[in-house]
Amino acid sequence: MAENDNVPDYTAVQQDGQASSQETSKTVLWINKARRVLLVIGILYVGAVFLLCTPFVQRQALYLHNIKIPLFPNFDLPEKYGLAPNKTLNMRVPTIDGESLGAWFILSDHYYHKLSAPPTKESLLAKHIPVAIQNHPTVLFFHGNAATRAFHARVQHYTAFSSRLGANVLAIDYRGFADSTGTPSENGLFTDARAAWDWLARKGVDADNVLIVGHSLGTGVSAGLAKELARDGIACKGVVLLSPFSSIQDVLQTYHIFGLVPLMKPLAMIPWATDLLHWFLVHKFDTLKAVPNIDAPVLIAHAENDWDIPHTHSDVLFNAFLDGVLPELDLPANTIRVKPEEYHAMTSSIAKRQATREKLVTRTDMAGFGYTESFWDGTKERNVTLVKTLYGGHDYLGVQEGVQDAIGHMFGFF
Ligand SMILES: *[C@@H]1O[C@H](CO)[C@@H](O)[C@H](O)[C@H]1NC(C)=O
Ligand SMILES: *[C@@H]1O[C@H](CO)[C@@H](O)[C@H](O)[C@H]1NC(C)=O
Repeated sequence: MAENDNVPDYTAVQQDGQASSQETSKTVLWINKARRVLLVIGILYVGAVFLLCTPFVQRQALYLHNIKIPLFPNFDLPEKYGLAPNKTLNMRVPTIDGESLGAWFILSDHYYHKLSAPPTKESLLAKHIPVAIQNHPTVLFFHGNAATRAFHARVQHYTAFSSRLGANVLAIDYRGFADSTGTPSENGLFTDARAAWDWLARKGVDADNVLIVGHSLGTGVSAGLAKELARDGIACKGVVLLSPFSSIQDVLQTYHIFGLVPLMKPLAMIPWATDLLHWFLVHKFDTLKAVPNIDAPVLIAHAENDWDIPHTHSDVLFNAFLDGVLPELDLPANTIRVKPEEYHAMTSSIAKRQATREKLVTRTDMAGFGYTESFWDGTKERNVTLVKTLYGGHDYLGVQEGVQDAIGHMFGFF
């Protein structure tokens, strides 16, 4: 009995082992499942990135021009979207390459309110528009991607410009958008912008009475037009970039899906993948590269709570404008291994640049609103201003009274 007592109870151990091996196999199953899910996500992700490399998908994803918001829009009835009776003319702008763009011309309230009764639609084109653009500044507005010129946030922009700033507004829908013909492309959108400019010119507008305003993707279009006008020796009133980006490539790099998931972070782990996508990027809208070729005064505005395009894009652009007026950096050929004799020249040139920047840039803080930074560019005789707001998000940036007033003061609307 005593010996028997010493025999270990294998059954108990066996039961124990069974239980723990059950546990292990459960864990293994779970890990396998998680692996499979991760694999599927990985394949979907790589698939999506490859799809983005194809011109068709890239076009759809960048322009989102087939998203027609509001649904079933009636562009003949701007009143339906909040504009005053017969204040707006729905019309078409032809382009030199044979497209036809849907557009709205909205009268300045300063003009509209002086009329004893709302004009007839017929008299807008023949009479009121030519007189209004002679007597009031005109905003040439380029909207962002997706939706149409009747989109609620955009109508708010027209209202702000025509009422608070007393400006006429010409807003076009690019090729492939809304009721415009054609298919969008980078060069196509630049052609459309020029067509809108030329339409105003044919109506007798003075170039220096036209303020080019772009929002989001429209800032890329505005920069392209501003560059082209400078090349042709035409001086517009100025350029306003609302919620801009430095280039589409940088947007991809900084884009967070739903403001949370960094789009390109996983791709950075595959060395060649980022380069591949950049190589296949057809529509570049490289505003940063256009900066040195823009001669007009520039106002850049961005909200710090913009989850579509981070506000740091505006810092990059502002610094690029500033770059033209700061002393050059004296950097050694190899900045990783600086030789002792090069060190002094380098640090003193950095310090000199920093001091010049501080002397040049004026910063004004406005509690509850944000701040502005501006400098005078003596080489091009123009003011460059950055407006950073605390609020406003992406779509409605620019309709705030504070941003409107910054535009109004800078471009002499009041
Ligand atoms: C707007 O224009 C139409 C067409 O020209 C005209 O019939 C209508 O009376 C105008 N509306 C107002 C409120 O004057
Ligand atoms: C640029 O224009 C703004 C608005 O008029 C003004 O407040 C600012 O002082 C100007 N900056 C410079 C450096 O001239």
